[in-house]
Amino acid sequence: MKKVLVATEKPFAPAAIAQIKKIVDEAGFELALLEKYSSADELKSAVADASALIVRSDKVTADVVDAAKELGIVVRAGAGYDNLDMEACSAKNIVAMNTPGQNSNAVAELAFGMMVFQARNHFNGTAGTELRGKKIGIHAYGNVGLYVAKVAKGFGMHVYAFDPFVDDAKIKADGITPLSSVEELYSTCQYVSLHIPANDKTKKSINKELLSKMPEGGVLVNTARKEVIDEDGIVALMEERKDFAYISDISPDNKAVFEEKFPGRFFFTPKKMGAQTSEANINAGVAAANQIVRFFKDGDETFRVNK
Ligand code: 3PG
Repeated sequence: MKKVLVATEKPFAPAAIAQIKKIVDEAGFELALLEKYSSADELKSAVADASALIVRSDKVTADVVDAAKELGIVVRAGAGYDNLDMEACSAKNIVAMNTPGQNSNAVAELAFGMMVFQARNHFNGTAGTELRGKKIGIHAYGNVGLYVAKVAKGFGMHVYAFDPFVDDAKIKADGITPLSSVEELYSTCQYVSLHIPANDKTKKSINKELLSKMPEGGVLVNTARKEVIDEDGIVALMEERKDFAYISDISPDNKAVFEEKFPGRFFFTPKKMGAQTSEANINAGVAAANQIVRFFKDGDETFRVNK
């Protein structure tokens, strides 16, 4: 019997696990759970006889892939698959997939939760500011960017986007102003919401030079990845620009520097929380389970990312 392992250091909501189990059981497969594990060795031993693996941000390294003797497919229940060693998967002919769009609304809602919190001075009782009438730049107009744009319009913000991979016509059709360069986006918008993936081209690309273009009261909103930020660069900028704030769903490695130097001008969730809603867990978990069943039953490779 095929074993489907759900390995999540940050567990799914119980309702999501119940639905994943139902799909796996009905397909005649067996579900195994490894939650809140604390070492790669635990993952390596759990995956040894698994035919399929569902993960979140869990690191599927070359070592993990090597330990997986039966693995045919790994699905990242979520969008960004920078946690999967693609070369190692491809070398062993393991299909790697993600579940694009399934947790996007949750991430977008968190972006606004953080923005309101920052604009209202962390609810410390002093007069804050409003989002209405402010300019927001969506840096990469994918699934999350699209939801952020929709919510921003609800707040009465002016919405701009830059994405070299999306046609301007599509962005315009959504009532958003496309801009032609990343520099233009940052120099136009007081708020920038980041939705770029972490890869060799984007790592540390959000640097001091780019951020220094942002207008007075600039706020960088990061629900993407910490790897895309030049963390020393943002500290250097915040030392120069007392008006600048950084709010992020992913704590930077130099968090202690922010705590010491910039009280009130940053906010970091204690643990990556963007996709941590029951709805997003159900959407992404169910999609992952269905993709695995379709792969084994019909050879369906839609959503494969290591083509
Ligand atoms: C994603 O890429 O889908 C998000 O960053 C969510 O990641 P998580 O499942 O680890 O919360």
